[in-house]
Amino acid sequence: MEKEFDVQTKLNLPKEVYLKKIEKYTIVISPNKPNWVVFDDLEYKLFDLLRINTILNALVLFQSETFLTEENCINILKSVLSKIDAISFYEEIEGCEEDDIKDIIKTIHITVTDDCNLRCLHCYMSAGIVSKKYLNLTLVSEKIKRIQQYYNSKLDIVVSGGEPLLHPEILSFLKEIKENQVTLFTNGMLINSSNINVISETCDAVQISMEGISKHVFEKIRGKNTYDKFMDAIVYLKENNIRIILAITMLPNTIEDIKSNLISFLEGLSYKNIEVRLNYELEMTGNALKNFAEEKHIVNVENIVVDLLQELKEIGVIYNSKSERNIRFNNCGIGASIVFDAKGKIYPCNKLSDYHRDISDDIIDVIKYFDDLNNNSSCRNIQGCQSCELKYICAGGCRIDNYINTGSMIKTGCTQEFKLDQYKKLIKDYLREN
Ligand SMILES: C[S@@+](CC[C@H](N)C(=O)[O-])C[C@H]1O[C@@H](n2cnc3c(N)ncnc32)[C@H](O)[C@@H]1O
Repeated sequence: MEKEFDVQTKLNLPKEVYLKKIEKYTIVISPNKPNWVVFDDLEYKLFDLLRINTILNALVLFQSETFLTEENCINILKSVLSKIDAISFYEEIEGCEEDDIKDIIKTIHITVTDDCNLRCLHCYMSAGIVSKKYLNLTLVSEKIKRIQQYYNSKLDIVVSGGEPLLHPEILSFLKEIKENQVTLFTNGMLINSSNINVISETCDAVQISMEGISKHVFEKIRGKNTYDKFMDAIVYLKENNIRIILAITMLPNTIEDIKSNLISFLEGLSYKNIEVRLNYELEMTGNALKNFAEEKHIVNVENIVVDLLQELKEIGVIYNSKSERNIRFNNCGIGASIVFDAKGKIYPCNKLSDYHRDISDDIIDVIKYFDDLNNNSSCRNIQGCQSCELKYICAGGCRIDNYINTGSMIKTGCTQEFKLDQYKKLIKDYLREN
């Protein structure tokens, strides 16, 4: 704990708080900042005393009520104070409004094709099976230039698929958009000596996917003879010092392999320019629905993730998971992205739906339409959310889900189960961050 506290004073803790006890944790929420802190039972007991007493008096009362040793009490006090201070859980922090959507530069996600050279068992879009469309990339690069001009800024662009390297014009497209921040999502099978130089010159990072670490587990999902090609791609990326984002989707039949072998795999790579993204939230559509709907993720997947993240931190592999606090999120992010699908439709977020425009539309008009969509569906306009303690944290839930479940983006489909999941997410975030 770095900050020094005057024990004769009272902490200026948020006046209005909402408590939720889940298993061994108590979540204390300050709804309007919004901010929250997670305590175990003893920590919460001391926190409660700190709300109305000076730090010293709270400590004395705590010891007399718990009969713990002085040393134990001081350690618990240190833990509580450092948790509070680390996230500024104070009254005087003013809630900060989320930026106006007009000031947020939209991120761009492009599915250049829904064709694929693999048939991954979990693929949410059944890439290469249901459709094999290829986007007109000349048109897309014109759109991107217009968007750049509109914001007078570089853009954050993800180029994905299907398998994007199957697109015959992919390399010239990457050259066209290279002045932006470009991340290529690929399975790596087609990375070779003739395209690695262009990838290196045009992409800021390459996200490459794996679901299993050992060859036989990897190939169970991605198919025969894929592992060696994946490893060749990793070598090409390393040789060119390209930033690698290893996207690891944890599946019921690969999770044990990931748990046992991920860290030694990364140590074996001995490459610093790498980041790991662990994903265990399976989108249940396409092949995933066909192949994994019956199987349950093993129950302690979250604990495995927390342990792995800790180990990743220890070996110096970056993983960004900090939750944002003291910002009032009014929306789920709808309208903050421009998502091009392979068929030429343009969506306001990654969840594809009825809300889309067409690639032939004027892109500035599309931007304005997405801005309006965001403003109109603000949680300030959602009736069921206005008095909820979580409204600025869950921001009213996914608007597309609202639309699917209730027929309107501003009619919440929230249930007790959904709320409980939100609370559990706060605990998960806390466990990851500590
Ligand atoms: C659809 S792929 C497209 C890019 C490229 N072909 C690849 O394999 O990375 C993008 C990412 O989505 C992940 N993915 C596929 N199906 C998924 C699902 N049902 N749920 C969650 N992630 C999934 C893949 O593992 C991969 O990391």
